[in-house]
Amino acid sequence: MSDLVVTVLRKKQEAQDIASFELARADGGPLPAFSAGSHIDVHVPGGPVRQYSLCNDAGEQHRYRIAVLRDPATRGGSAGMHDGVREGDRLTISEPRNHFPLVHARRSVLLAGGIGVTPLLCMAQRLAAIGADFTLHYCTRSAARTAFRDEILASTFAGRVQFHFDDGEPAQKLDLAAALGGHPAADTHLYVCGPTGFIDFAVQGARAAGFGSDQIHLEYFGAAPQDTRGDGTFEVKIASSGQVVAVPAGQTVVQALAAAGVEILTSCEQGVCGTCLTRVLEGECDHRDLYLTDEEKARNDQFTPCCSRAKSPVLVLDL
Ligand code: FES
Repeated sequence: MSDLVVTVLRKKQEAQDIASFELARADGGPLPAFSAGSHIDVHVPGGPVRQYSLCNDAGEQHRYRIAVLRDPATRGGSAGMHDGVREGDRLTISEPRNHFPLVHARRSVLLAGGIGVTPLLCMAQRLAAIGADFTLHYCTRSAARTAFRDEILASTFAGRVQFHFDDGEPAQKLDLAAALGGHPAADTHLYVCGPTGFIDFAVQGARAAGFGSDQIHLEYFGAAPQDTRGDGTFEVKIASSGQVVAVPAGQTVVQALAAAGVEILTSCEQGVCGTCLTRVLEGECDHRDLYLTDEEKARNDQFTPCCSRAKSPVLVLDL
């Protein structure tokens, strides 16, 4: 997959601490097509590579739109976008990838927490376009922090959207059981994007309502900081060559392998995107990502070496 150079056509303040960026191909050509739920990697000028979901209509190829929350705990990504990127600037981005696709369902429930609305807005546009049965619940701290509110209220699917503000009346707060109920759980697919606590709350509620794992679709927009105080050294063994590489505390498997001349493709480097997913042939993984499901982690046959480690002294990798 090759990188693209795009021009920032428009930068707009969508809500408190949230700016959107409209991107068009710098050479004027059409952008690669994408599907609802896709994200792009953005090389933040002078900063890291960050993933942002596309939140425009998936039928559009003349532009991509992303939205960025200014995060006080930022490691340079969101501040770089807010403070360093202006209209007319050029950015390098990846082609879109989709780890959060819509599946065919009789009914879809979309649950957005804050800036997690971005992929779900794209999904709502798509579901509305095909006449599907869906509801979008959009939870934010306040109306002032609710990006795209006017756009949603003016859309053809406004009647399918419910806003829930933390500082609002109790009656308008999200009733998860009600949001998920009313139809047999087997007919419904749930899509959740937001902070980790919001996702955990939604998943617990969905499981209690009878949703199976294959009906619950998640996208985290940032990993929580890991407690690394108990980390020790372990070894990884390359199955194809027999090469053994030590991974000390303070270094990731990806970093240790790179120092030994073995490159693994990465993107988010925080266990969110799945780009670095690597098969494990022997040993016990210490999964620290948000990408794999609990069932996938329990199988112990793959891990994300950008952040995950080993519980056993050695991990044998299918490399
Ligand atoms: Fe994104 Fe490892 S690079 S999960």
